Amino acid sequence: MAELATQNPRPRILSGMRPTGKLHLGNYMGALANWVRLQNEGQYECYFFIADWHALTTDYADPSRVKLNTLDVALDWLAAGLDPGKSTIFIQSHVPQHAELHLLFSMITPLGWLERVPTYKEQQENITGKDLSTYGFLGYPLLQAADILVYQPQFVPVGQDQVAHVELTREVARRFNSLYKTEVFPEPDALLTPSPKLPGTDGRKMSKSYGNTIGLTEAPTTVAFKIHNMSTNGQRIRQSDAGDPDLCPVADLHKVFNSPDAVAEVEKCCRAASQRCEFCKMDAARAVHNAIGHIHDARMSMESRIDDTWEMLREQSRKASARAEQTMMPVRAIFDLSHDLGSIRRYFAVNENHDKEVRDLSQHSDWWDLPADQRAKLLRNYWKNNLVPRDVPLTQESNREFTTIDRELEEPFITAKKKRVFVSTSRDILMRNRWHFEIPLRSYEVWTLLCWSDETRALYDFPVPQKTFSSDFAMARRVKKDGKIPVQIDRTEEGKFTLTIAAREVADISAFQGDYAPLK
Ligand code: TRP
Ligand code: SF4
Repeated sequence: MAELATQNPRPRILSGMRPTGKLHLGNYMGALANWVRLQNEGQYECYFFIADWHALTTDYADPSRVKLNTLDVALDWLAAGLDPGKSTIFIQSHVPQHAELHLLFSMITPLGWLERVPTYKEQQENITGKDLSTYGFLGYPLLQAADILVYQPQFVPVGQDQVAHVELTREVARRFNSLYKTEVFPEPDALLTPSPKLPGTDGRKMSKSYGNTIGLTEAPTTVAFKIHNMSTNGQRIRQSDAGDPDLCPVADLHKVFNSPDAVAEVEKCCRAASQRCEFCKMDAARAVHNAIGHIHDARMSMESRIDDTWEMLREQSRKASARAEQTMMPVRAIFDLSHDLGSIRRYFAVNENHDKEVRDLSQHSDWWDLPADQRAKLLRNYWKNNLVPRDVPLTQESNREFTTIDRELEEPFITAKKKRVFVSTSRDILMRNRWHFEIPLRSYEVWTLLCWSDETRALYDFPVPQKTFSSDFAMARRVKKDGKIPVQIDRTEEGKFTLTIAAREVADISAFQGDYAPLK
């Protein structure tokens, strides 16, 4: 089918951060630096977002800093080199599809799965002063699963601490796909960020809650001062003593930010007590500055343009939302939450305007920009639920596993009398009032050709018995390309429809329009 042209997919990656305010070196080395690298390598389509709803799962009692922290994180990201020209950078709460999918996932997720996520009990015990016995906090990892799956990514770049959440995400995807016999959600893999050991100023792990951080965009003098006051973890209390650099957090800073040669020199001087700690620390501060000084400068200039930054985030969130919507449409259809009256209409008496209404697709403006294969799937569903008369029950060989959506779209419907009905959709984008189809060389009793017009947004449906054109069909076998027969429908100026099989015009098929007798 011309419409089924495959679109270039670079594998997608998605990751997020809670807005806890300005980033520190630990956040940078553990995540952000890696994201910038992945973005610049250009191998992936990248989505990065600020998880402000996740912040509310713990900070719901005082949300006053969430927006400020969100902007702070965004400014640090941009300063560090995330680039809206290369990645989609957005705010979680500006994309309501995350919340919608979270809600739908909550219907199918057993409570036990969430209670067993290790971070749940740990955090409840470790975070004191906040009541975390809430529904939202229990659902934290499920919201994360929705964050991820709504973009159908292949990989999720995260640190070791998030692996359990990615595992839950895979389980939810698997359960959804198997419950609804679909492949909407590919199971994403964690793309583990190697995170070097980066101690805080007191030698413990760098963490905001320990108050031992060095900010990614702090002024160079502040950074130098903090490093100057850093603990040596008991090494070289007297400067004449030799030290062990493997025990000193300053040496860890060297290992992360200095060259291998310089690190060797530092270790040698430490063991030989040949250079005072204060010089070793000045050297460390210089290495840190060389690595991240430009980020501080970039942040300074970003801060004078916060309106632009916010506008960019809103714009990028709209882009993310459009992508998320592509996932949500088939998901809503699966739960029978699509916005048209659909199959329900068939249970009520059909009024005289019915035929006109069901063929008028102007209400479905949300379909027109979907990728061709998803649109084709929705349109087939729509056709089955709205256009096929009530006395024509159709089934599909539903237990079959489809390897690709293309194959699924070629799968015929079966009538009560076991007739095989091939259904294909086409949109007149190449030329107005002309539709192209490609029909597999298998035999079907009926071809149903669905033509939809970009201009009038009308749908024309032609159930055509294959045997009516069997001689043309036999001829066409010789002209086939790639095992398929090219078929074309044209709408003439007088409003008639002609059928062309393998480049030979064969008939006026106007009379077939909307006539479902061949399916009975
Ligand atoms: N839980 C993550 C953290 O604390 C943040 C997060 C929320 C996230 N949603 C996500 C990370 C989706 C990756 C993908 O760091
Ligand atoms: Fe630490 Fe450097 Fe002093 Fe050794 S010389 S103890 S590595 S600060």
